Amino acid sequence: MPEQDTSAKTKEYYLDTPQECDRFFLKGSGNYDWGMKNRLARIFNPASGKTVMLAFDHGYFQGPTTGLERMDVTIRPLAPHADALMCTRGALRTLMNPEVPQAVVLRASGGPSILKDLSDERIAVSVEDALRLNASAVALQVFIGGTHETQSVHNMTSMVDACNRYGVPVLGVTAVGKELTRDARYIGLAARILAELGASIVKTYYVDDFETVTAACPVPIVIAGGKKLEELEALQMARDAIDRGASGVDMGRNVFQSDAPVAMIQAVRKVVHDGASAEEAFELYRELTSRGV
Ligand code: R5P
Repeated sequence: MPEQDTSAKTKEYYLDTPQECDRFFLKGSGNYDWGMKNRLARIFNPASGKTVMLAFDHGYFQGPTTGLERMDVTIRPLAPHADALMCTRGALRTLMNPEVPQAVVLRASGGPSILKDLSDERIAVSVEDALRLNASAVALQVFIGGTHETQSVHNMTSMVDACNRYGVPVLGVTAVGKELTRDARYIGLAARILAELGASIVKTYYVDDFETVTAACPVPIVIAGGKKLEELEALQMARDAIDRGASGVDMGRNVFQSDAPVAMIQAVRKVVHDGASAEEAFELYRELTSRGV
C-alpha cells in the first residue's frame, strides 16, 4: 500500500514559471522521439554539437587491417578519447570493455569480402542484437551507383523501419565504388538519397565544395578519414570539413595507423570540439608525442 502524502510542506506549482520547452541541438533531429534524441546526444556532444567517432570496423570485409591486428592492444587505449566507437558486434563482444562510457555505433551491414563485389551486402545484425549491445546507432553501407545499389538501399531502409520501432538512429555510409568519381556532385547525390530514405546520420568522404554537400543534406554528416595521410594533413581535412558544415568525424586509419594514435585522436578532438586550427592541433600532437604519448 503506497503511503499517503502527509508532508506538512505547502505544495508549490510554480505557477509563474512556464514549463521549459527543449530545443534539440542537432541538425534535422528536432522531430524525433525522446529515445532517438537521447541516443544521438550520446554520440554527438550537446555542448559542441560535434562528434569524434573512432572507426575500427574495417575487419568486417578486409580482415586484420594494419593497426587492427590486435584491437585489444591498439584500440582499447584510444576508446577513452572517442565520443563513439564504430565497430562490429564481434569486436565489441570479444575485445571491448563493457564499462566504457562511449556510445556504440554498430556496423550492421556486411557480406562480401575484399575478394568479391563489395556492394553485394546484406543486413548483418538484427535490431534486437543491436539493442542487446546497447548500441546508440547502427551503421549500414549504401552503394549508390554500385552494382547492388538497390539491395544496399533496401538494407538501409529495412533497418530504418526496424530501428524506428525502438528509437535507434541509422547511420548511412556512402560507399564510393572504384569506378565512381569522388566529387561533390556524387557525394551530394548519395548523402541526400540516404537522408531522404531515413538515415539519421550520413557518413561520407570529404571533397572539394563540401559545403554544397552539407547544405543539401538535412541530417548531420560525419566524414571518414580515408587512407592514411600525414597527421597535419588529416587534421587540416577535419578542420576543413567542420568549417564546411560537417558535424564531426568518423576516423579510422588516420588515427590507428598514426605513429602516435593516442596523441592523434586527442589532436582530432581539439579540431572538432575546441575549434582549433590544424596547426594548433598538430602542436598538441607534437607535444604529446614528445612526452611519449
Ligand atoms: C568502411 O567501410 C568503414 O566503415 C570504415 O570504418 C570507414 O571507412 C572509416 O574508416 P577510415 O577513416 O579508415 O576511412
